[in-house]
Amino acid sequence: MKVFLIMVQSINGKIRMSGNEQRSWSSKEDMENFQKITQDIGIVIMGRKTFQEIGKPLKDRINIVLTGTPEKFNEYEQKYRKEIYFTDKPPEILLRNLEENGFNEVALIGGPTINSLFLEKDLIDEIFLTIEPVIIEGDLSVFKYVNIKYEFSLKDFKKLNENTMLLHYVKKNNEIKKEGSK
Ligand SMILES: NC(=O)c1ccc[n+]([C@@H]2O[C@H](COP(=O)([O-])OP(=O)(O)OC[C@H]3O[C@@H](n4cnc5c(N)ncnc54)[C@H](OP(=O)(O)O)[C@@H]3O)[C@@H](O)[C@H]2O)c1
Repeated sequence: MKVFLIMVQSINGKIRMSGNEQRSWSSKEDMENFQKITQDIGIVIMGRKTFQEIGKPLKDRINIVLTGTPEKFNEYEQKYRKEIYFTDKPPEILLRNLEENGFNEVALIGGPTINSLFLEKDLIDEIFLTIEPVIIEGDLSVFKYVNIKYEFSLKDFKKLNENTMLLHYVKKNNEIKKEGSK
């Protein structure tokens, strides 16, 4: 199972602008890129707070929302059958279950709490990080907490528009493993 983290941040490393609704500070090209990558992967995992800001399942993708109280969301699951699932499974169990059901990659789409939950178990394989050319007042960064150093290699980068950069990182150990297995 491969986990891709997909996030957008400002020059000063913030992922949410104070007093502003989610993503209204980021570019149209980033939104398009987000849509394309996540639709190609086909399945997104997010925290309950991120889901509540989005307000409804992302179209043409299976949505999995982590919450301590999945039973509170039965109505949503009924309303959007087969589009959205709420779960309190630990990340590694969730990923194993998805793999058993035939999925071999997922997009992790935030927020920082859920990103840290996956990172602390070393479950993030690749990162697509957009850097928007703005400095904003914000309170959150990509991870809520980080306990040790995790190393990534820059696999690729491209401009999404004149001023917005997309960085693609791969976990370093994965690369070494791959090279070693050649
Ligand atoms: N710029 C970007 O790319 C980007 C992307 C995504 C989100 N965001 C921003 O991130 C913000 C939200 O981030 P956040 O860190 O506050 O919240 P979050 O990660 O979206 O969601 C946190 C929630 O996840 C659930 N959760 C936490 N640990 C869990 C566990 N071990 N098992 C099951 N469920 C668990 C809890 O839900 P319950 O309280 O229901 O138990 C918790 O309140 C949003 O405001 C959004 O704007 C930005």
